[in-house]
Amino acid sequence: MGAQDFRCPPIENPADPAQRHALPHRTDSPYIPGVLRRCEARRTSLNELAETTMTDLVNDMTERFLRDAGIAPGMRVLDVGCGRGDVSFMVARIVGEGGCVLGVDRDPAPIAVARRRAAELGLGRVAFEERDLAALSPTAERFDAAVGRRVLMYQPDPVAAVRAMAGAVRAGGLILLQENDPTMGQGSLMPMDLHRQVHQWIWRTVEREGASLHMGFQMPSVFEEAGLTVQLVRAEAIVQTPRIQHQLAFIVRAMLPRIVQQGVASEAEVDVDTLEERLAAERTKANTTFVGDLVFSVCGRTPSPA
Ligand SMILES: C[S@@+](CC[C@H](N)C(=O)[O-])C[C@H]1O[C@@H](n2cnc3c(N)ncnc32)[C@H](O)[C@@H]1O
Repeated sequence: MGAQDFRCPPIENPADPAQRHALPHRTDSPYIPGVLRRCEARRTSLNELAETTMTDLVNDMTERFLRDAGIAPGMRVLDVGCGRGDVSFMVARIVGEGGCVLGVDRDPAPIAVARRRAAELGLGRVAFEERDLAALSPTAERFDAAVGRRVLMYQPDPVAAVRAMAGAVRAGGLILLQENDPTMGQGSLMPMDLHRQVHQWIWRTVEREGASLHMGFQMPSVFEEAGLTVQLVRAEAIVQTPRIQHQLAFIVRAMLPRIVQQGVASEAEVDVDTLEERLAAERTKANTTFVGDLVFSVCGRTPSPA
């Protein structure tokens, strides 16, 4: 696929270019009240709660970061390692009718899902392409911003990866990356051995697959080495309470073949069918908060023209 094919979908109602390039830094966010309201409103069953909190807690962190760092109506945005398009759709809502989003991923399977979801949502201003981020530059056009979530940790040369993203963005544009990082380990006032065990299964597997577990802490330096000016750094924890849970059992179920293949745990040790129930029982018994991974968000700006 040549550089000419690498384009944002056409914008039907382009915003005033002066406005497109004036990148605001802060907007109000309904993050905390929104999450709590949704948790309260939907606390009808464990399954439903899990679905609500998993999506909301992490996606709300992402959306708040995007807005605070300057993703705004009218912008043209590249989503790198877009997977099934969750972040692309979030960005599409923010950039609105006058903006556009191109999601790229090296794996064709999630790209097919993302395209189907875009069609179902009737979102013409979002497009998806199968592409490795190493093949991003030089591009046929420059985006106002490039974003990515949980993708830098998988790159063997993260500085080169950020440089490739920067090459697809105009001078003075934005690079936003969000990465989970378990470096500080998990924390709780009471013993919560099963929760800690589950985190170990997940992270050991990801590590054995070649990912860096410390990308969150490393990101600001990686950005600077790639020639960007770091503008915003944030680290937030994924917290669980007896009533609010991260969807750990769901993640373990999805990762189980990989966990077994990497020799991290056997199916019998994981006992996935009872895992959610056992995790809930542990949180109820401990009756306290469990602090899981940190989610690091870093925004940098590409050099402005001299
Ligand atoms: C953990 S998933 C995250 C998906 C999405 N960003 C999200 O947050 O929902 C990581 C994605 O990055 C993609 N990926 C990893 N390395 C890549 C590369 N070098 N070029 C393009 N995509 C890549 C993988 O195929 C996978 O879909």
